[in-house]
Amino acid sequence: MREQLAWRDGLPYSTKFQDVYFSSDNGLLETEYVFLQGNDLPTRWQQTDLNHFTIIETGFGTGLNFLCAARLWLASAPKHAVLHFVSVEKYPLELSDISTALALWPELTDLSTPLIHQYETLMNTKANTSSISLYNHRVQLSVYTGDATEQLACISNIADAWFLDGFAPAKNPEMWHSGLFSEMAKHAHPSTTFATFTSAGDVRRGLINAGFKVNKRAGFGKKREMLCGEFIGTQHD
Ligand SMILES: C[S@@+](CC[C@H](N)C(=O)[O-])C[C@H]1O[C@@H](n2cnc3c(N)ncnc32)[C@H](O)[C@@H]1O
Repeated sequence: MREQLAWRDGLPYSTKFQDVYFSSDNGLLETEYVFLQGNDLPTRWQQTDLNHFTIIETGFGTGLNFLCAARLWLASAPKHAVLHFVSVEKYPLELSDISTALALWPELTDLSTPLIHQYETLMNTKANTSSISLYNHRVQLSVYTGDATEQLACISNIADAWFLDGFAPAKNPEMWHSGLFSEMAKHAHPSTTFATFTSAGDVRRGLINAGFKVNKRAGFGKKREMLCGEFIGTQHD
């Protein structure tokens, strides 16, 4: 099933979830603030002994989070190291929509062009997973199509960082439930971090119950607060 997408003021908008794909204040800066800084990636990726790093994301959407992470990785991680970016997407966008959305970011064109070229291979919904290698094999992108919690149960990767995206919890309660947080814990190790744009109480409590230490920090743009933290491994349910 394809997502219902509309364009509002030139930005992608989900009519199914009545929510935006990224902040109208500046989606690219939002991604850098919420997901990259929220997981402390600019600092963590400067370690010279880094060989690989795995990010798992809920909601691939337009691929903006992926491209921002890839750009930082290519600029800061050691040349031999490989970034594994694993994303789960239940309602993949059409190629034409992702192309229009990514054209909003001319500064990402060098990275978005090869992604767009391989997008249909990536979103092959007949097989529910597909992987592509990008940027001289320095980045491996895998997308699982389907519901986040269901697909995570099939994923063997362990996350070094979680990008917890997926529309506002109040608008998409089917994704944000205890099963998702339990799967996050199963795919975590003691220094795994997470970041999300939301500060919803149910999300905060769900993450704590699943064994994450949760911190609040100032949100991006109009959002007052966001959540980030790390796995400490003490489950409460
Ligand atoms: C705010 S958008 C994500 C934006 C994206 N990370 C980006 O960089 O453009 C939320 C995404 O979550 C996806 N989504 C919604 N419910 C989901 C679910 N239950 N499982 C997986 N993906 C879901 C939507 O289709 C949408 O693409």
